[in-house]
Amino acid sequence: MRVLSGIQPSGRLHIGNFFGAMRQHLQSQAQHDCFYFIADYHALTSNPSPADLAAYTLDVAMDYIALGLDTEKTVFWRQSDVPEVTELTWLLSCITPMGLLQRCVSFKDKVAQGLNANHGLFAYPVLQAADILIYKSNLVPVGADQKQHIEVTRDIAMKFNATYGEVFTIPEPHIIESVAVVPGTDGQKMSKSYGNTIEIFEPENSVRKKVMRIVTDSTPVEQPKDPEKCNVFALLKLVASPEELAQWEQKYRSGGTGYSEAKKRLAELLVDYFRPFRQKRAELEKNPDYVRQVLRKGAERAKSVASQTLAEVRKAVGLDI
Ligand code: ADP
Ligand code: TRP
Repeated sequence: MRVLSGIQPSGRLHIGNFFGAMRQHLQSQAQHDCFYFIADYHALTSNPSPADLAAYTLDVAMDYIALGLDTEKTVFWRQSDVPEVTELTWLLSCITPMGLLQRCVSFKDKVAQGLNANHGLFAYPVLQAADILIYKSNLVPVGADQKQHIEVTRDIAMKFNATYGEVFTIPEPHIIESVAVVPGTDGQKMSKSYGNTIEIFEPENSVRKKVMRIVTDSTPVEQPKDPEKCNVFALLKLVASPEELAQWEQKYRSGGTGYSEAKKRLAELLVDYFRPFRQKRAELEKNPDYVRQVLRKGAERAKSVASQTLAEVRKAVGLDI
C-alpha cells in the first residue's frame, strides 16, 4: 500500500502538527510504502519571503528526521525537486472544471483571512491532485481540513481515466481523527497563523513559559472543574499515561487542585516527551548538508516514479508523437 502525504513549510512545526499528523505519518512507516514530501510549491501560494521559505523547508526536514523518519525506507523529498509534478498539474488543469475549484472552502477561508487571491492559491488543489496521482498513491493521511482536496483529486482522476483511459490509481483519504483538534495557548485551534503555538523543538524554558500562559477559566482552586472544558487537560491527554490522566480527571472533578499545578505537570510531560529527539535535532542543525543530501536522494527515488507516470499521461493525452 502506498501512503503519501505532504506538509507545507510555512512555519516552525508545533505540537498540533505532531499529534494531528506527523505522529501518524511516522507510525505508518513500519507497515507501508511511505512517500512524504515538503510542499514548498504549495507554500509559495502565501508569498513567504525567500529567506523564510528556505529556512522553514530545512526546519521541517530536520524535524521529521529527528522525530524518526526512516531515511532508508521512506521516500522523503522536497516537492520542487521533482518539477514533473507541475507539468502534470497543467495537464490535469485542462480537464478540471472551474466549478470544482470554486467550491473549495479552503480557498474561500484563506481569502476571508486576508490572503491575497492569487491564481496559485485558487489552483492549489490541482497541484495537490498532481502530487497524489503522479506517485499512484493509495492512501493519503491528512487532517479533516484537507478532506475536500482529496475528493477533488478523486474527481479529477476519475474524469481523466474516463476521458483518456485508466492511468491513475484512485486514492482514498485517511482522515486522521485519533486526536481531536489540539488547542493552542489561547484555546483556539493551534495554528502557525494564530501565533498560539508551542513548537516541537523550541527551548525547554520557552515551552514551560508558554504552558504557564495557557488560557483557563477563573474557577477558584477549591472548586470542582470540568476537565473536558479545559485546554490544559486537552494537552495532558496527549502526553500523560492513562493512569496519570485518570488521576488528573479525579483531581479536576473533586476540586482543591488549581490549574497552575496541572500546567506545571503538563510542561514537564511535554518537555520529557520530546527530549529524546532534541539531541538528534541539534546534530542535524549542525549538519544541514546531510539534510540536503537526504532530500536529494529522496528526490531521485520520487522522480523515477513521477517520470514514469508522466510518460504514461503524456502518451494518453496525445503528446507522444
Ligand atoms: P497550521 O494550521 O499550523 O498552518 P497546517 O495547516 O500546515 O498547520 O497543518 C499541517 C498538518 O497538521 C495537517 O494535516 C493538519 O491537519 C495538522 N494540524 C495542524 N494544526 C493542528 C491542530 N491544532 N490539531 C490537530 N492537527 C493539526
Ligand atoms: N495541502 C496540504 C496541507 O496544507 C499539503 C499537501 C500538499 C498535501 N500536497 C499534498 C497533503 C498531497 C496530502 C497530499 O496540509
